[in-house]
Amino acid sequence: MSSIATAPEVTSAVAYEAVQGLSATPKTLTPWLFYDEAGSHLFEQITTLPEYYLTRTERSIFAKHADEILAQAAGEHHLTLVELGAGTATKTGILLAAAVRRQTNVVYQPVDVSQTALDEARDNIETHIPGVMVLSQVADYTSEPLKLKRQPGVRTLALYIGSSIGNFAPNDALEVLQILRSQLRPGDSLLLGTDLAKDEATLLAAYNDASGVTAAFNLNVLTRLNRELGANFRLENFAHKSIWNAAESRIEMHLESTVSQRVHIPANASCPALTIDFAPGETIHTENSYKFTATSVGSLLQSAGFTSVRTWNDPNNLFAVTLAEAS
Ligand code: AVI
Repeated sequence: MSSIATAPEVTSAVAYEAVQGLSATPKTLTPWLFYDEAGSHLFEQITTLPEYYLTRTERSIFAKHADEILAQAAGEHHLTLVELGAGTATKTGILLAAAVRRQTNVVYQPVDVSQTALDEARDNIETHIPGVMVLSQVADYTSEPLKLKRQPGVRTLALYIGSSIGNFAPNDALEVLQILRSQLRPGDSLLLGTDLAKDEATLLAAYNDASGVTAAFNLNVLTRLNRELGANFRLENFAHKSIWNAAESRIEMHLESTVSQRVHIPANASCPALTIDFAPGETIHTENSYKFTATSVGSLLQSAGFTSVRTWNDPNNLFAVTLAEAS
């Protein structure tokens, strides 16, 4: 599993991933490369698009069921909340407000690779939800241990929402959840948000919106390689493409070369120079977004050492939020 880079090694990690992925057959780029400053901003825009139902649907599930979710996770105990890949924690406020209604004071521990996102999360939450103490951690949760603050008798509720788990291949998703499980105690729990498999038209629209924001998000990875590695990708020679791969139950994002072309990445401190030839129609596979069923979520959780307790869906069964106990 490739892990998410953090400064100061970020440029060498970008070079390593680019050279590995672009010299492979078929060509790939790891999706964490999307999230430079411009890419993170474009992703925020994606979450507000009419076609991208995921964010608003998960938020609507939280809005309707937050009290029940917190009650089920807590039982007779107090909770501390940890969030993997919290970003700016825009949806988490709904769950934190429900936690404060139950227990007055709540410790919230967001974990993310971006200090800027964590600062924004803390400002928002401390301003709007009195009673929440934010203890943030800059870390890559796929490879670094969580610094869990534990108090006697207080259980941990880990949040892994937004269908972020869907961007990992099944074996890597299992590993992410197993690493998390190894840091939890029996009685702690996980709240997992997963996007559900559905009709192809809805899925394709969500990853190929009419206003072109997802296309810009996908193409931005080439701008990043040009800027950070001195590569000479010509963006006008690549097209954004989304495919529904039903056999694998995933949306794939690709960048398709529209012409026969050669691209150079100059040598740098960590990698030799690379010349990349593209045939017309050849693609760089930039992202998988797996779509789940109730059964596939349940078996993933069980394999990782969790017992599913309860699932909440929206009325159209677009998205699922599953509470699972560390067993
Ligand atoms: C972050 N992740 C859950 C998004 C998804 O839907 O797979 C990333 C994304 N890619 C294109 N649009 C959004």
